Amino acid sequence: MAIERTLSIIKPDATRRNLTGKINAKFEDAGLRIIAQKRIQLTKAQAGVFYAVHKERPFYDELCEFMASEPVVVQVLEGENAITKNREVMGATNPADAAEGTIRAEFAESVGENSVHGSDAPDTAKDEIGFFFSQLEIVG
Ligand code: CMP
Repeated sequence: MAIERTLSIIKPDATRRNLTGKINAKFEDAGLRIIAQKRIQLTKAQAGVFYAVHKERPFYDELCEFMASEPVVVQVLEGENAITKNREVMGATNPADAAEGTIRAEFAESVGENSVHGSDAPDTAKDEIGFFFSQLEIVG
């Protein structure tokens, strides 16, 4: 199996409720290693660039506003099939559809305020990691 890296974001609804440690424990329990991590405050414009793929969606403005509302924790997770594994640990985008034991089932407040983001494919993982981290900040 391939060792992959993926970009994870612990979103404002989760940092506000002091859930960073509980969410990190879910990643580590699933065998994912946190090989880079920092807490930052995004501007709405920066959130807009990160989520540019959703520009035409009706929730885009609300999403960017929310992502800039409080600090986020951005992370690089590494492990076997890390992209898929992280998406399994996160659960479905809408917490109402998320499987029991997943981060979103346990912690997410709504489809918009859903506690975590994770890259969806190798290409996007590479781009998203590069958006937040330099090579020097990633210690595998
Ligand atoms: P994420 O995995 O970060 O990718 C895009 C985000 O858009 C998604 O999680 C949700 O937080 C958000 N999103 C998706 N659908 C909706 C929706 N219907 N209303 C508000 N936000 C949404």
